[in-house]
Amino acid sequence: RAAVLAAVTAVAAAACGAIPSTSPVRDQDFSAELTVPPLAESRVEDGVRVFELTAQQGRTSFLPGTMTTTWGFDGSYLGPTLRAERGERVAVEVTNGLTEATSVHWHGMHLPAEMDGGPHQPVEPGATWRPSWEIDQPAATLWYHPHPHGQTEEHVYRGLAGLFLLDDDASRAASLPSEYGVDDVPVIVQDKTLDEDGELDLDSDGNAVGLHGDLVMANGTVGAYHAVTTERVRLRLLNGSTARTYAFGFEDRTFDLVGTDGGLLARPVRTDGVRLSPGERAEIVVEMRPGETVRLRSADPDLGGVAAPFAFGGNDAFDVLELRAAAELAPSPEPRWAHHDTGPDEAAATVTRTFELQDREINGRRMDMSRIDETVTVGETEIWEVRNRHPVPHSFHVHDVQFEVASIDGAQPPPELAGRKDTIYLEPNRTYRLVMRFEDYADPDVPYMYHCHMLLHEDEGMMGQFVVVEPGQEAGSPPAHHGH
Ligand code: C2O
Ligand code: CU
Repeated sequence: RAAVLAAVTAVAAAACGAIPSTSPVRDQDFSAELTVPPLAESRVEDGVRVFELTAQQGRTSFLPGTMTTTWGFDGSYLGPTLRAERGERVAVEVTNGLTEATSVHWHGMHLPAEMDGGPHQPVEPGATWRPSWEIDQPAATLWYHPHPHGQTEEHVYRGLAGLFLLDDDASRAASLPSEYGVDDVPVIVQDKTLDEDGELDLDSDGNAVGLHGDLVMANGTVGAYHAVTTERVRLRLLNGSTARTYAFGFEDRTFDLVGTDGGLLARPVRTDGVRLSPGERAEIVVEMRPGETVRLRSADPDLGGVAAPFAFGGNDAFDVLELRAAAELAPSPEPRWAHHDTGPDEAAATVTRTFELQDREINGRRMDMSRIDETVTVGETEIWEVRNRHPVPHSFHVHDVQFEVASIDGAQPPPELAGRKDTIYLEPNRTYRLVMRFEDYADPDVPYMYHCHMLLHEDEGMMGQFVVVEPGQEAGSPPAHHGH
């Protein structure tokens, strides 16, 4: 299996430039304490929980003695963690303090298209945009990031991103580590390249997938450690990179995978690795022994096919985050929660659509903001059959919904793809059947996006638009785009 993939990879490398698996990562000494993004403050006004976010430019020190120009929300890099309850109504006042237009998309959120923050909701410099919606989905680790037309890669790479955590009764009743920043720790993994002046290098050097930086960081901290004080620690992993795919694990232990993009799995799954392409999340619970030090690593993701084991001791593997256990650890219970249903049923599907990904096109077309590619009827369950026809990996992200992976090349998906997902990695030459249900929020004029989440590909046009309409209604036309 690995040999076949290696052969495919070699062909791709010849045809379209280097493949990420060979991009080296610099060694670090893991002596900097992990930065934990602060929880965002909010106020409650007329029953609405209101957050404020301001996108701004600043300076960040990724390496000792080096200052880098970066972008962040309410700070110089990344943004605060927003947190809200299922059933709550929220609003976010997004102010653009940059000198160019941007947008803020709520990745993984079920919400009306005009609140989605995609390319049709640009926020001009100096302007404030105030989307508001009701949280109507299970507890999950979601995130937010810009989505301006053609410039998503650059805006995310410069540092605009943050987490959006959702809670509900089931997540609170679950036996899971839950003290934010202590034993429930956000880990936003990203890679960068700095030039001689310490500034961000945006050049992907012809890599077919996009920029692969040699500096790997967690929450903006290069070579980070986290001091563990409990027997178990929950890591909320987000691949916040623009192109690099990771396969996370440890050299000497398995762990419990407890959640994926859209929330908790039906039950915890014991595993040795979890592969995350850009935009994907996983919640894992790691057991620690008193006084020990272990490192979260990333193996070469392109060597592990669907459900293949990864080599965390291999030459291509690199360290991401050190976990340092105190001499005495407070007890934490085993992960457990009441079994729940995770998603829509393939048998209920009434519509099947196919999406072929090749070069930078989906179904032979590049993104056009004035064209609606797909019209979905509200309340329907659909199968989206996504085919990667390209010898390089891609990914597929759908706005508004969480889907189930029904099958991959006709076979059952591995456990890490068995929960609610909004983004998946597409291995070359495979077909993925996704089941999703479009619950509500019909609006014929404002589209949602689906796209490759390797952001260079997205910016180059590997994206399409769908609208959700009432039964019998036709798609309208997207509102004129206010250019920048
Ligand atoms: Cu994370 Cu369309 O984006
Ligand atoms: Cu792609």
